[in-house]
Amino acid sequence: MREALQRLDEQFAFQTSGRFDLLVGEHVAYHELGAPDVDAELRRSIERAEGVVTVVGRAGSGKSSLIAAVADALDEGFLPLRVSVIGVEAGDPAAFARHAITEIRELPDAQLTRHETRALDRATAERRTRSSTRELRGGFEIAAGKILTAKIIGDIKQAATEALEHAADPADALRGMQRMFDTFWKVKRCPVMIVEDTDHWGGSPEVTDAFFDQTSRAFGTLDAVMVVATQSDYTSLDGYLRIRDKLTAQVFLPRLPDVEYGVSRVLVHRMSSVGVDLPLQDVLEPEGLELLSQSYLESVTDEWAGDLRRTLAVMRTAVDIALAEATAQQVTRGHVQEAIARTPLAPPSAL
Ligand SMILES: Nc1ncnc2c1ncn2[C@@H]1O[C@H](COP(=O)(O)OP(=O)(O)OP(=O)(O)O)[C@@H](O)[C@H]1O
Ligand SMILES: [Mg+2]
Repeated sequence: MREALQRLDEQFAFQTSGRFDLLVGEHVAYHELGAPDVDAELRRSIERAEGVVTVVGRAGSGKSSLIAAVADALDEGFLPLRVSVIGVEAGDPAAFARHAITEIRELPDAQLTRHETRALDRATAERRTRSSTRELRGGFEIAAGKILTAKIIGDIKQAATEALEHAADPADALRGMQRMFDTFWKVKRCPVMIVEDTDHWGGSPEVTDAFFDQTSRAFGTLDAVMVVATQSDYTSLDGYLRIRDKLTAQVFLPRLPDVEYGVSRVLVHRMSSVGVDLPLQDVLEPEGLELLSQSYLESVTDEWAGDLRRTLAVMRTAVDIALAEATAQQVTRGHVQEAIARTPLAPPSAL
């Protein structure tokens, strides 16, 4: 099975990239991991079509992965719009609104229509029949079918440009943001703003605090959904505590109830996506899986999710260590042990 190890190594099977768009393909739904169905919980929270939803877990636990997968699977009545927190004063609602309008305006047209196209293709493939409109909440409907034509995208971008022209004043910036959201609602699309690279706030508790207290509070009053990846430690900041009761939902990532089962599902999914369709024990001996699962548990506190990023990093290093031995056929407990020693446990957040 050395060839399998080589292939896993060459194809970066256990790499943990930071790229949001790559996470969807790697995500395994929580119910398939034997855990509570937080995928459905997040989807339902977004489908309420209002306010701010936080996804809470320690660093590396899978917040971005869950958000990416759930956003991708929303039907075409929802339009996920990812807005980065890098390079913006995220604690200032007006600055953040201007930044969000700019980012959305600069999205290539193909990217704006991509979700709709993919959702419609999926619906056709699944032969789903939907009524042509669906009421979301008082007076708002979402529509099935293709709507985001070139003309409408032009209107959205025009609205963004106009919003920016008047956005010097803080109150106007938020009104501009709302006008831009209105253009989506006019065509029966619910905007879903995704704020997921919040791990960048490491070392800036003031920014994090102000983001929740000011920015998320202000956005919570606009007609849109905002989904925010929230490291567990952020939830004890005063700014978070002050808006907590106003949140539409908090989705807490649960620990894997049966860690060996959950971890093996994640590993097998990664293996098969690089064409290694073998049982896990051909690659990783059972005692190795046991130790790998223990390393996940080191980062678990209470009933909340542990650090899957580290678990994958340990596995990747263990493959390297095995391959450095000329005759190794699989990853053993010893390889995992050495890999754990080389992969320090990260703090739960960078705050
Ligand atoms: N449900 C899952 N199925 C498969 N892989 C997962 C799952 N959840 C997380 N992972 C993997 O674990 C790694 C860490 O996940 P992710 O980047 O989502 O963590 P995070 O909570 O967003 O971390 P940070 O707080 O640093 O942003 C990624 O490589 C991801 O692919
Ligand atoms: Mg993340």
